[in-house]
Amino acid sequence: MTDTIPDLSLHRSCPYGPPDQAAELRERGPVARVRLFDGSTPWLVTGHAEARALLSDPRVSSDRSAPGFPMPVPTPGPRPSNLSATLIANDPPVHSRLRRMVIPSFTVRKVAALKPKIEAIVTERLDAMLAAGSPADLMADFALPVPSRVICELLGVPYEDHEFFEEQSRRRLDADGQAIQNLIKYLHDLVGRKIDNPGDGLLDDLIAEQLREGALDHTELATMGMVMLIAGHDTTANMITLGTLALLSTPDQLAKVRADEAAIPGAVEELLRYLTIAGTLSRIATDDIELGGRTIKAGEGVLVASAVANREQSDDLDVDHPLRQHLAFGFGIHQCLGQNLARAELEIAFTQLFRRIPTLRPAVPLDEVPRRDNALLSGVTALPVSW
Ligand code: HEM
Repeated sequence: MTDTIPDLSLHRSCPYGPPDQAAELRERGPVARVRLFDGSTPWLVTGHAEARALLSDPRVSSDRSAPGFPMPVPTPGPRPSNLSATLIANDPPVHSRLRRMVIPSFTVRKVAALKPKIEAIVTERLDAMLAAGSPADLMADFALPVPSRVICELLGVPYEDHEFFEEQSRRRLDADGQAIQNLIKYLHDLVGRKIDNPGDGLLDDLIAEQLREGALDHTELATMGMVMLIAGHDTTANMITLGTLALLSTPDQLAKVRADEAAIPGAVEELLRYLTIAGTLSRIATDDIELGGRTIKAGEGVLVASAVANREQSDDLDVDHPLRQHLAFGFGIHQCLGQNLARAELEIAFTQLFRRIPTLRPAVPLDEVPRRDNALLSGVTALPVSW
Protein backbone atom coordinates (compact mmCIF):
# COMPACT_ATOMS: atom_id res chain seq x y z
CA MET A 1 0.00 0.00 0.00
CA THR A 2 1.37 3.42 -0.87
CA ASP A 3 1.00 5.87 1.94
CA THR A 4 1.10 9.40 0.58
CA ILE A 5 2.19 12.05 3.01
CA PRO A 6 -0.36 14.90 3.23
CA ASP A 7 0.61 18.55 2.75
CA LEU A 8 0.14 20.48 5.98
CA SER A 9 -2.27 23.37 5.65
CA LEU A 10 -4.18 23.79 8.93
CA HIS A 11 -6.48 26.24 7.14
CA ARG A 12 -9.67 26.90 9.10
CA SER A 13 -12.80 27.50 7.00
CA CYS A 14 -14.55 28.82 10.07
CA PRO A 15 -12.42 31.39 11.92
CA TYR A 16 -13.20 29.83 15.30
CA GLY A 17 -13.41 26.24 14.05
CA PRO A 18 -10.74 23.54 14.11
CA PRO A 19 -8.31 23.19 11.18
CA ASP A 20 -10.21 21.63 8.24
CA GLN A 21 -7.54 18.92 8.06
CA ALA A 22 -7.94 17.90 11.72
CA ALA A 23 -9.97 14.74 11.16
CA GLU A 24 -7.81 13.54 8.25
CA LEU A 25 -4.61 14.12 10.22
CA ARG A 26 -5.96 12.42 13.32
CA GLU A 27 -6.90 9.37 11.28
CA ARG A 28 -3.23 8.86 10.43
CA GLY A 29 -2.45 8.30 14.11
CA PRO A 30 -1.18 10.53 16.91
CA VAL A 31 2.28 10.83 15.32
CA ALA A 32 2.66 10.80 11.53
CA ARG A 33 4.68 12.41 8.78
CA VAL A 34 3.46 15.53 7.05
CA ARG A 35 4.80 17.52 4.10
CA LEU A 36 5.67 21.20 4.52
CA PHE A 37 5.77 24.04 1.95
CA ASP A 38 9.51 23.42 1.40
CA GLY A 39 9.03 19.72 0.62
CA SER A 40 10.44 18.53 3.96
CA THR A 41 8.56 15.80 5.82
CA PRO A 42 8.85 16.24 9.58
CA TRP A 43 6.67 14.44 12.12
CA LEU A 44 3.36 15.94 13.13
CA VAL A 45 2.01 15.18 16.60
CA THR A 46 -1.78 15.44 16.79
CA GLY A 47 -2.47 13.30 19.88
CA HIS A 48 -3.00 15.25 23.11
CA ALA A 49 -1.05 12.89 25.41
CA GLU A 50 1.72 12.51 22.83
CA ALA A 51 1.96 16.30 22.44
CA ARG A 52 2.40 16.78 26.19
CA ALA A 53 4.97 13.99 26.33
CA LEU A 54 6.97 15.47 23.48
CA LEU A 55 6.89 19.06 24.73
CA SER A 56 8.19 18.00 28.14
CA ASP A 57 10.83 15.63 26.71
CA PRO A 58 14.43 16.82 27.28
CA ARG A 59 15.41 15.08 24.01
CA VAL A 60 13.86 17.83 21.90
CA SER A 61 15.47 21.13 21.06
CA SER A 62 14.09 24.56 20.12
CA ASP A 63 17.32 25.62 18.40
CA ARG A 64 15.96 27.17 15.22
CA SER A 65 19.41 27.33 13.67
CA ALA A 66 19.63 23.51 13.63
CA PRO A 67 19.57 22.03 10.09
CA GLY A 68 16.11 20.63 9.41
CA PHE A 69 14.38 22.66 12.11
CA PRO A 70 10.76 22.59 10.91
CA MET A 71 8.74 25.76 10.43
CA PRO A 72 5.14 25.33 9.22
CA VAL A 73 5.22 28.50 7.10
CA PRO A 74 8.05 30.33 5.32
CA THR A 75 9.94 32.57 7.74
CA PRO A 76 12.48 35.23 6.77
CA GLY A 77 16.08 34.15 6.99
CA PRO A 78 18.72 34.08 8.19
CA ARG A 79 17.07 32.82 11.36
CA PRO A 80 19.91 32.46 13.86
CA SER A 81 21.13 36.06 13.82
CA ASN A 82 17.68 37.29 14.81
CA LEU A 83 17.27 34.92 17.67
CA SER A 84 20.41 35.05 19.74
CA ALA A 85 18.65 35.88 22.97
CA THR A 86 15.09 34.75 22.52
CA LEU A 87 13.63 32.32 24.97
CA ILE A 88 11.67 30.55 22.29
CA ALA A 89 14.71 29.59 20.17
CA ASN A 90 17.08 28.45 22.91
CA ASP A 91 17.62 25.31 24.97
CA PRO A 92 18.91 24.95 28.51
CA PRO A 93 21.19 26.16 29.96
CA VAL A 94 20.90 29.40 27.91
CA HIS A 95 17.10 29.21 27.97
CA SER A 96 16.94 28.68 31.74
CA ARG A 97 19.34 31.58 32.33
CA LEU A 98 17.29 33.96 30.14
CA ARG A 99 13.96 32.80 31.57
CA ARG A 100 15.15 33.35 35.17
CA MET A 101 15.83 36.99 34.28
CA VAL A 102 12.24 37.74 33.26
CA ILE A 103 9.98 35.24 35.06
CA PRO A 104 9.67 37.37 38.24
CA SER A 105 7.85 40.05 36.19
CA PHE A 106 5.15 37.59 35.04
CA THR A 107 4.16 35.79 38.25
CA VAL A 108 0.53 35.61 39.40
CA ARG A 109 1.37 38.17 42.11
CA LYS A 110 2.99 40.62 39.73
CA VAL A 111 0.07 40.31 37.33
CA ALA A 112 -2.43 40.80 40.20
CA ALA A 113 -0.68 44.08 41.00
CA LEU A 114 -1.10 45.14 37.35
CA LYS A 115 -4.84 44.42 37.27
CA PRO A 116 -6.03 47.93 38.28
CA LYS A 117 -3.93 49.34 35.45
CA ILE A 118 -5.40 46.79 32.99
CA GLU A 119 -8.92 47.65 34.22
CA ALA A 120 -8.25 51.34 33.63
CA ILE A 121 -6.88 50.73 30.13
CA VAL A 122 -9.88 48.56 29.20
CA THR A 123 -12.33 51.14 30.59
CA GLU A 124 -10.66 53.95 28.70
CA ARG A 125 -10.70 52.05 25.40
CA LEU A 126 -14.37 51.14 25.80
CA ASP A 127 -15.26 54.75 26.71
CA ALA A 128 -13.56 55.89 23.50
CA MET A 129 -15.21 53.20 21.38
CA LEU A 130 -18.67 53.92 22.78
CA ALA A 131 -18.18 57.68 22.39
CA ALA A 132 -17.28 57.21 18.71
CA GLY A 133 -20.47 55.18 18.30
CA SER A 134 -21.61 52.07 16.47
CA PRO A 135 -20.28 50.47 14.29
CA ALA A 136 -16.66 49.94 15.29
CA ASP A 137 -13.73 47.70 14.46
CA LEU A 138 -13.26 45.70 17.63
CA MET A 139 -9.67 44.87 16.64
CA ALA A 140 -8.41 48.42 15.96
CA ASP A 141 -10.56 50.13 18.59
CA PHE A 142 -10.26 47.68 21.47
CA ALA A 143 -8.57 44.31 21.10
CA LEU A 144 -5.23 45.62 19.80
CA PRO A 145 -4.80 48.80 21.88
CA VAL A 146 -5.50 47.02 25.18
CA PRO A 147 -2.65 44.44 25.19
CA SER A 148 -0.42 46.86 23.30
CA ARG A 149 -0.72 49.45 26.05
CA VAL A 150 -0.38 46.84 28.77
CA ILE A 151 2.85 45.39 27.39
CA CYS A 152 4.23 48.92 26.86
CA GLU A 153 3.55 49.66 30.54
CA LEU A 154 5.17 46.44 31.64
CA LEU A 155 8.28 46.75 29.47
CA GLY A 156 8.67 50.52 29.64
CA VAL A 157 8.16 51.02 25.88
CA PRO A 158 6.55 54.38 24.89
CA TYR A 159 3.00 53.69 23.68
CA GLU A 160 3.30 56.66 21.26
CA ASP A 161 5.32 54.29 19.08
CA HIS A 162 2.54 51.70 18.87
CA GLU A 163 1.63 52.24 15.21
CA PHE A 164 5.21 51.53 14.24
CA PHE A 165 5.71 48.38 16.27
CA GLU A 166 2.23 46.99 15.57
CA GLU A 167 2.78 47.41 11.82
CA GLN A 168 6.25 45.84 11.91
CA SER A 169 4.95 43.03 14.03
CA ARG A 170 2.17 42.32 11.49
CA ARG A 171 4.84 42.14 8.77
CA ARG A 172 7.28 39.98 10.68
CA LEU A 173 6.92 36.99 8.37
CA ASP A 174 7.55 39.04 5.18
CA ALA A 175 10.22 37.35 3.08
CA ASP A 176 12.76 40.20 3.23
CA GLY A 177 13.04 40.01 7.02
CA GLN A 178 13.07 43.82 7.15
CA ALA A 179 10.31 44.14 9.76
CA ILE A 180 12.25 42.10 12.32
CA GLN A 181 15.39 44.12 11.65
CA ASN A 182 13.40 47.36 12.07
CA LEU A 183 12.04 46.12 15.38
CA ILE A 184 15.45 45.07 16.67
CA LYS A 185 16.88 48.47 15.69
CA TYR A 186 13.97 50.23 17.40
CA LEU A 187 14.52 48.25 20.62
CA HIS A 188 18.28 48.72 20.35
CA ASP A 189 17.86 52.52 20.16
CA LEU A 190 15.31 52.51 22.96
CA VAL A 191 17.63 50.53 25.24
CA GLY A 192 20.40 53.01 24.34
CA ARG A 193 18.19 55.93 25.42
CA LYS A 194 17.21 54.11 28.60
CA ILE A 195 20.84 53.49 29.54
CA ASP A 196 21.28 57.27 29.64
CA ASN A 197 17.84 58.07 31.04
CA PRO A 198 16.47 55.16 33.07
CA GLY A 199 12.68 54.81 33.26
CA ASP A 200 10.31 52.43 34.93
CA GLY A 201 9.76 49.07 33.29
CA LEU A 202 11.12 45.58 32.76
CA LEU A 203 13.61 46.79 30.14
CA ASP A 204 14.96 49.30 32.68
CA ASP A 205 15.21 46.56 35.32
CA LEU A 206 17.07 44.34 32.86
CA ILE A 207 19.48 47.18 32.08
CA ALA A 208 20.16 47.71 35.79
CA GLU A 209 20.33 44.06 36.82
CA GLN A 210 21.64 42.21 33.76
CA LEU A 211 23.21 44.57 31.23
CA ARG A 212 25.31 46.50 33.73
CA GLU A 213 26.42 43.22 35.32
CA GLY A 214 27.48 41.88 31.91
CA ALA A 215 24.95 39.01 31.94
CA LEU A 216 23.28 40.36 28.75
CA ASP A 217 24.69 42.56 26.03
CA HIS A 218 22.86 45.45 24.38
CA THR A 219 21.77 43.44 21.29
CA GLU A 220 20.62 40.48 23.36
CA LEU A 221 18.49 42.77 25.49
CA ALA A 222 17.01 44.40 22.36
CA THR A 223 16.15 40.98 20.92
CA MET A 224 14.58 39.82 24.15
CA GLY A 225 12.55 43.02 24.38
CA MET A 226 11.38 42.60 20.80
CA VAL A 227 10.04 39.10 21.40
CA MET A 228 8.18 40.17 24.54
CA LEU A 229 6.76 43.21 22.73
CA ILE A 230 5.47 41.12 19.80
CA ALA A 231 4.31 38.12 21.85
CA GLY A 232 2.76 40.46 24.40
CA HIS A 233 0.29 42.19 22.10
CA ASP A 234 -0.35 40.18 18.95
CA THR A 235 -1.56 36.89 20.45
CA THR A 236 -3.75 38.51 23.10
CA ALA A 237 -5.34 40.86 20.53
CA ASN A 238 -6.24 37.85 18.41
CA MET A 239 -7.69 36.00 21.39
CA ILE A 240 -9.88 38.99 22.32
CA THR A 241 -11.34 39.31 18.80
CA LEU A 242 -11.64 35.63 17.99
CA GLY A 243 -12.96 34.85 21.49
CA THR A 244 -15.61 37.56 21.09
CA LEU A 245 -16.54 36.26 17.64
CA ALA A 246 -16.80 32.67 18.91
CA LEU A 247 -19.06 33.72 21.80
CA LEU A 248 -21.24 35.98 19.64
CA SER A 249 -21.64 33.03 17.25
CA THR A 250 -22.56 30.54 20.00
CA PRO A 251 -25.62 32.10 21.70
CA ASP A 252 -26.08 29.43 24.40
CA GLN A 253 -22.50 29.94 25.61
CA LEU A 254 -22.76 33.73 25.32
CA ALA A 255 -25.91 33.63 27.47
CA LYS A 256 -23.98 31.87 30.26
CA VAL A 257 -21.22 34.48 30.18
CA ARG A 258 -23.74 37.31 30.19
CA ALA A 259 -25.79 35.78 32.99
CA ASP A 260 -22.89 35.39 35.41
CA GLU A 261 -19.57 37.20 35.28
CA ALA A 262 -18.12 34.55 37.60
CA ALA A 263 -18.24 32.26 34.53
CA ILE A 264 -15.69 34.40 32.68
CA PRO A 265 -12.41 32.89 33.97
CA GLY A 266 -13.68 29.43 32.95
CA ALA A 267 -14.82 30.82 29.60
CA VAL A 268 -11.36 32.29 28.99
CA GLU A 269 -9.71 28.94 29.70
CA GLU A 270 -12.15 27.12 27.44
CA LEU A 271 -11.77 29.68 24.64
CA LEU A 272 -7.98 29.35 24.85
CA ARG A 273 -8.31 25.61 24.27
CA TYR A 274 -11.12 25.78 21.74
CA LEU A 275 -9.42 28.41 19.57
CA THR A 276 -5.72 27.52 20.10
CA ILE A 277 -4.63 30.48 18.00
CA ALA A 278 -0.95 29.43 18.09
CA GLY A 279 -1.70 26.27 16.14
CA THR A 280 1.69 24.56 15.82
CA LEU A 281 4.84 24.39 17.95
CA SER A 282 8.21 23.47 16.41
CA ARG A 283 10.96 21.24 17.78
CA ILE A 284 13.80 19.03 16.57
CA ALA A 285 14.79 15.69 18.15
CA THR A 286 18.29 15.47 19.63
CA ASP A 287 18.01 11.71 20.29
CA ASP A 288 15.78 8.87 19.12
CA ILE A 289 12.33 9.15 20.71
CA GLU A 290 9.60 6.48 20.75
CA LEU A 291 6.24 8.22 20.56
CA GLY A 292 2.78 7.06 19.57
CA GLY A 293 4.15 3.83 18.10
CA ARG A 294 6.71 5.64 15.91
CA THR A 295 10.41 6.32 16.25
CA ILE A 296 11.39 9.94 15.81
CA LYS A 297 15.09 9.79 14.94
CA ALA A 298 17.72 12.17 16.26
CA GLY A 299 17.91 15.18 13.92
CA GLU A 300 14.32 14.87 12.68
CA GLY A 301 11.91 17.79 12.92
CA VAL A 302 8.67 17.57 14.88
CA LEU A 303 5.66 19.87 14.75
CA VAL A 304 3.11 19.69 17.53
CA ALA A 305 -0.32 20.49 16.08
CA SER A 306 -1.68 21.97 19.30
CA ALA A 307 -4.81 23.24 17.49
CA VAL A 308 -5.64 19.64 16.56
CA ALA A 309 -4.55 18.06 19.87
CA ASN A 310 -6.64 20.52 21.90
CA ARG A 311 -9.80 19.45 20.10
CA GLU A 312 -9.22 15.79 20.93
CA GLN A 313 -11.05 16.00 24.27
CA SER A 314 -13.96 17.93 22.82
CA ASP A 315 -14.92 19.77 19.67
CA ASP A 316 -17.55 21.77 21.55
CA LEU A 317 -17.23 25.08 23.35
CA ASP A 318 -18.48 24.60 26.90
CA VAL A 319 -17.66 27.58 29.10
CA ASP A 320 -19.00 25.83 32.23
CA HIS A 321 -16.60 22.92 31.87
CA PRO A 322 -13.24 24.22 30.74
CA LEU A 323 -10.74 21.49 29.92
CA ARG A 324 -7.66 22.77 31.67
CA GLN A 325 -4.92 20.45 30.47
CA HIS A 326 -4.81 22.26 27.14
CA LEU A 327 -1.79 23.25 25.09
CA ALA A 328 -2.88 26.75 24.09
CA PHE A 329 0.12 28.16 25.97
CA GLY A 330 2.35 25.21 25.04
CA PHE A 331 3.73 22.83 27.67
CA GLY A 332 7.08 22.08 29.29
CA ILE A 333 9.97 24.49 29.70
CA HIS A 334 8.81 26.89 26.95
CA GLN A 335 5.28 27.18 28.26
CA CYS A 336 4.12 30.77 27.66
CA LEU A 337 5.94 33.30 29.81
CA GLY A 338 3.00 35.71 29.62
CA GLN A 339 0.14 33.31 30.36
CA ASN A 340 -0.88 34.89 33.69
CA LEU A 341 -0.86 38.29 32.06
CA ALA A 342 -2.83 37.06 29.04
CA ARG A 343 -5.48 35.43 31.25
CA ALA A 344 -5.87 38.65 33.28
CA GLU A 345 -6.21 40.77 30.14
CA LEU A 346 -8.75 38.42 28.57
CA GLU A 347 -10.84 38.18 31.74
CA ILE A 348 -10.95 41.94 32.23
CA ALA A 349 -11.56 42.64 28.53
CA PHE A 350 -14.47 40.16 28.19
CA THR A 351 -16.02 41.17 31.53
CA GLN A 352 -16.18 44.84 30.66
CA LEU A 353 -17.05 44.31 27.00
CA PHE A 354 -20.11 42.16 27.64
CA ARG A 355 -21.18 44.15 30.72
CA ARG A 356 -21.03 47.51 29.01
CA ILE A 357 -22.31 46.50 25.56
CA PRO A 358 -25.09 43.96 26.11
CA THR A 359 -26.28 44.29 22.51
CA LEU A 360 -22.86 43.75 20.91
CA ARG A 361 -23.09 41.83 17.61
CA PRO A 362 -21.02 41.25 14.45
CA ALA A 363 -21.68 43.95 11.84
CA VAL A 364 -20.87 41.72 8.84
CA PRO A 365 -21.60 38.08 7.96
CA LEU A 366 -19.03 35.59 9.24
CA ASP A 367 -17.53 34.97 5.78
CA GLU A 368 -16.81 38.68 5.36
CA VAL A 369 -14.70 38.99 8.49
CA PRO A 370 -11.14 39.57 7.22
CA ARG A 371 -8.92 36.71 8.30
CA ARG A 372 -5.45 35.86 9.26
CA ASP A 373 -5.10 32.16 8.80
CA ASN A 374 -1.84 30.30 8.96
CA ALA A 375 -0.43 27.40 10.92
CA LEU A 376 1.50 29.73 13.24
CA LEU A 377 -1.23 32.16 14.16
CA SER A 378 -4.92 32.18 13.47
CA GLY A 379 -7.24 35.10 13.93
CA VAL A 380 -8.92 38.04 12.25
CA THR A 381 -7.39 41.29 11.02
CA ALA A 382 -10.51 43.34 11.77
CA LEU A 383 -13.83 42.61 13.48
CA PRO A 384 -16.66 44.96 12.49
CA VAL A 385 -19.18 45.10 15.34
CA SER A 386 -22.30 47.12 16.10
CA TRP A 387 -24.59 47.56 19.08
C1 HEM B 1 -3.54 34.61 24.67
C2 HEM B 1 -2.32 35.04 24.46
C3 HEM B 1 -1.13 34.17 24.26
C4 HEM B 1 -1.02 32.93 23.67
C5 HEM B 1 -2.12 32.09 23.04
C6 HEM B 1 0.38 32.55 23.75
C7 HEM B 1 0.88 31.34 23.29
C8 HEM B 1 2.18 30.91 23.52
C9 HEM B 1 2.67 29.58 23.21
C10 HEM B 1 1.85 28.47 22.57
C11 HEM B 1 3.97 29.52 23.58
C12 HEM B 1 4.89 28.30 23.51
C13 HEM B 1 5.71 28.25 22.24
C14 HEM B 1 6.52 26.98 22.12
O1 HEM B 1 6.54 26.14 23.01
O2 HEM B 1 7.15 26.80 21.06
C15 HEM B 1 4.32 30.82 24.11
C16 HEM B 1 5.57 31.18 24.55
C17 HEM B 1 5.91 32.46 24.92
N1 HEM B 1 5.04 33.52 25.14
FE1 HEM B 1 3.05 33.51 24.87
N2 HEM B 1 1.07 33.55 24.37
C18 HEM B 1 0.20 34.55 24.71
C19 HEM B 1 0.48 35.72 25.38
C20 HEM B 1 1.75 36.14 25.72
C21 HEM B 1 2.05 37.37 26.39
C22 HEM B 1 1.04 38.41 26.89
C23 HEM B 1 3.41 37.43 26.51
C24 HEM B 1 4.14 38.57 27.19
C25 HEM B 1 5.40 38.79 27.23
C26 HEM B 1 3.97 36.22 25.94
C27 HEM B 1 5.30 35.87 25.83
C28 HEM B 1 5.78 34.62 25.49
C29 HEM B 1 7.20 34.27 25.51
C30 HEM B 1 8.36 35.19 25.83
C31 HEM B 1 7.28 32.90 25.15
C32 HEM B 1 8.53 32.03 25.04
C33 HEM B 1 8.71 31.31 26.37
C34 HEM B 1 9.91 30.35 26.38
O3 HEM B 1 10.36 29.92 25.32
O4 HEM B 1 10.37 30.03 27.49
N3 HEM B 1 2.92 35.45 25.47
N4 HEM B 1 3.21 31.65 24.08
